[in-house]
Amino acid sequence: MRLRVATAADVAAIAAIESVSFVDPWPPEAFLGLIGQPHVDCTVAETPEGTMAGYCVVLHAGPEGDLANLATAPEVRGRRVADALLTRALDAAAARGAAALFLEVREGNAPARALYARHGFLPVGRRPRYYRHPTEDALVLRRDLPAPSAAAG
Ligand SMILES: CC(C)(COP(=O)(O)OP(=O)(O)OC[C@H]1O[C@@H](n2cnc3c(N)ncnc32)[C@H](O)[C@@H]1OP(=O)(O)O)[C@@H](O)C(=O)NCCC(=O)NCCS
Repeated sequence: MRLRVATAADVAAIAAIESVSFVDPWPPEAFLGLIGQPHVDCTVAETPEGTMAGYCVVLHAGPEGDLANLATAPEVRGRRVADALLTRALDAAAARGAAALFLEVREGNAPARALYARHGFLPVGRRPRYYRHPTEDALVLRRDLPAPSAAAG
């Protein structure tokens, strides 16, 4: 699996995974508007054959990053693609000097919660009835990041 920075040419393949991964998917225009922006890290994973396997979107604002989107193609789930994307997102955020990454996750999304727990995300809040279809609370998770000098070393 190869990780690289997303480009506008990836949007159709990203949106295809997005539409089968979420009941309330982002439209392609949302990805198009973010890719290439200086405050955005959008990384894709692709197979050796060049097939899109997953993506991760982090929005940076000052000392904090928001892991706004992460999904992998259903046919490659369980093969550590999200693990690799998340590791890279954490490294990139630390290299930017971010102090912490935040994210929201459905309370009942066991695979995602297990993934984030493995990567050191801790619950810091709850947003009641945050999601639709079905209505469900979001858990807010936080992962502190090492200082840039420590990250570089
Ligand atoms: C959540 C998601 C991104 C995980 O992607 P993935 O590529 O299958 O995950 P990985 O193979 O890298 O798994 C890494 C870890 O995640 C957890 N995990 C992944 N799938 C899991 C499952 N079905 N059940 C329980 N834990 C799971 C485990 O901790 C796993 O570690 P392990 O292999 O040691 O058990 C993927 O299921 C997905 O795209 N889901 C739909 C979109 C979504 O929910 N995104 C997150 C929104 S907050």
